[in-house]
Amino acid sequence: MPAQGNYIKRNNLLQISVSELDAFHEYIESEYQFKLKWYNSASAERRLRKTIKNLQLNSLTDLQAGLQKGSISFQRFLSEFTVNVTQVFREPESLKDLKNNVLPFFRKVVDFNVLLVGSSSGAELATLCIILKENGLLKRSKIVATDISENILKEAYKPKLQKSDLIEGHENYLRAGGYRELDHYFLGAGSQAYLDESLLEKVEFKTFDVCHSQLEERFDLVICKNVLIYFQYDEQHHLINNLSRHMKDKAFLALGEKESILRLQKLNDTFSLVTGEYNIYRKN
Ligand SMILES: C[S@@+](CC[C@H](N)C(=O)[O-])C[C@H]1O[C@@H](n2cnc3c(N)ncnc32)[C@H](O)[C@@H]1O
Repeated sequence: MPAQGNYIKRNNLLQISVSELDAFHEYIESEYQFKLKWYNSASAERRLRKTIKNLQLNSLTDLQAGLQKGSISFQRFLSEFTVNVTQVFREPESLKDLKNNVLPFFRKVVDFNVLLVGSSSGAELATLCIILKENGLLKRSKIVATDISENILKEAYKPKLQKSDLIEGHENYLRAGGYRELDHYFLGAGSQAYLDESLLEKVEFKTFDVCHSQLEERFDLVICKNVLIYFQYDEQHHLINNLSRHMKDKAFLALGEKESILRLQKLNDTFSLVTGEYNIYRKN
């Protein structure tokens, strides 16, 4: 059945009409507080098309109807919609920056806590645990690993890598300042390797939407890498403000290498740059 609005399929590419999209934005925000309209519109529409295809539907209106009837859960939708690409020791130079310019502050405190936002399937959590371990800080830290998607977060409970990823990751691990073999921290025969569970003893997992979720705790370090890039630049200050509410005074915020917030005028009084190159900020 054609969807309401001007549904057309051109060159095999499913078209989404403006009226359909507006209705979907409104529905998903009022029902799930999901700020779809803050996402970068071109990539969000691509992801919506992919979601519709993978769920074997014909239109965005069908997707909305499925969510309304409960035949499609919001979490199922998120599993399709979100981009979960990740990698162990991703962006090694920025990790080295974190190690050299942020971790020394935590050597002076008894304990500290870290909020990891958009953790995806756990490669980043594994990376963080290894860095903290090698810097003698793991036992004094508590990590809250989060993602908006419950399904992807479940994978992070037991971070798993393909052996081939481990070989590639080793190069980055060394560039980030690692000093042994990366596979020292992973167990398992065959093609898959699991992070040594003893590294995860003080990790908690929570679902968290960077746009609006509220946790009671305040953190010393918030790491939110490669999440902001999916949002429109003009809306990113909302996300940063929400992260800021989760930060103690003088806490650190580590963003992805392409996620500078320097041009977000509204935030200039809230954060200072710690080091020039790698988007690590400190709350004033
Ligand atoms: C590309 S992955 C980045 C993973 C990891 N941070 C890294 O740099 O390798 C983006 C992650 O952000 C999550 N995400 C998307 N929208 C989000 C939101 N509104 N709140 C929290 N996480 C979100 C996705 O589910 C996904 O796991």
